[in-house]
Amino acid sequence: MLDKIAEKFGHEFSYDEALIGHAAIEATGEALPEESLQKMKNSDAVLFGAVGHPKYDNDPSAKVRPEQGLLKMRKELGLYANLRPIKLFDELLDASSIKPEILKGADILFFRELTGDIYFGEKGRKNNGDTAFDNAEYSKYEVERIARKAFDAAMTRNKKVCSVDKANVLETSRLWREVVQQVAKEYPEVQVEHQFVDAVAMLLIKDPKRFDVVVTANLFGDILTDEASQIAGSMGMLASASIGDGTGVYEPIHGSAHDITGKGLANPMASVLSAALLLDISFGLKEESNAIISAVDAVLKAGFRTGDIADASTPKDKILGTDAIGEEILNRL
Ligand code: IPM
Ligand code: MG
Repeated sequence: MLDKIAEKFGHEFSYDEALIGHAAIEATGEALPEESLQKMKNSDAVLFGAVGHPKYDNDPSAKVRPEQGLLKMRKELGLYANLRPIKLFDELLDASSIKPEILKGADILFFRELTGDIYFGEKGRKNNGDTAFDNAEYSKYEVERIARKAFDAAMTRNKKVCSVDKANVLETSRLWREVVQQVAKEYPEVQVEHQFVDAVAMLLIKDPKRFDVVVTANLFGDILTDEASQIAGSMGMLASASIGDGTGVYEPIHGSAHDITGKGLANPMASVLSAALLLDISFGLKEESNAIISAVDAVLKAGFRTGDIADASTPKDKILGTDAIGEEILNRL
């Protein structure tokens, strides 16, 4: 896809490849080898595959796990803001399990904090291993910087921010709310609401159109964006951008789906759309980015689907595998 863009718009991209996750563990024993990290740091942007392997999911005692590579990468590259745009291509209105009239027009931009919270706090066992704990921590500056990113984005959209927390129970959430309220004062034009995470889980399905920009903590954001992927029809459609102060990382929100490995069933659109986000955010190549999005749109308009976004009305010959639908996108580009 990027080669095609280079050819069409007269750019030259240079690529490097680096191992992470299961493949890196097999090759080096580490989930994120130093060599990979250096390659990432030396690049302008990272296009990321996915990590995870069932071997580790079923072995809670595994010391080295693929996901550690992902988390270490986020921490080391300072990727504190994870942007997950949720927007339904009109052609997929019927692919979602949510009623079309509820979905039509929904357009949400999630800002998930990515380097703090229960993901990165102290964790361990006590009482001879019979008790486990994961510590959730946030400091003011961590909340402030993600809140600013969300408000800045809201200024370029519908000027609405929904901050999601659990301030009725959690101290980290009370700090979160305090800081977001402070930051909000710098953006008098933006309409702000504070909602509890349980209520948002319900509202996303009930009335997704009420949201514009949503900003939330790491764990809540992880859960809510999987839920919100159904607003976009499928996990296979959602791209994300992780940004901080240096190299940005672009990746589908889905995992590695080993149950369909090698079957050619995976929907490549989330990856393709991640490349579009990369061109836009890291390189400022808006036209090039839009060309990719339009090509995906055109393929959907032509009626082509992968299995995850097909429905009962999709003709059998329009259901394509991973490579074939990739070709269709390329052709339109
Ligand atoms: C995501 C994923 C990761 C996360 C996993 C693979 C560790 O679910 O990027 O949303 O929980 O952040
Ligand atoms: Mg997730």
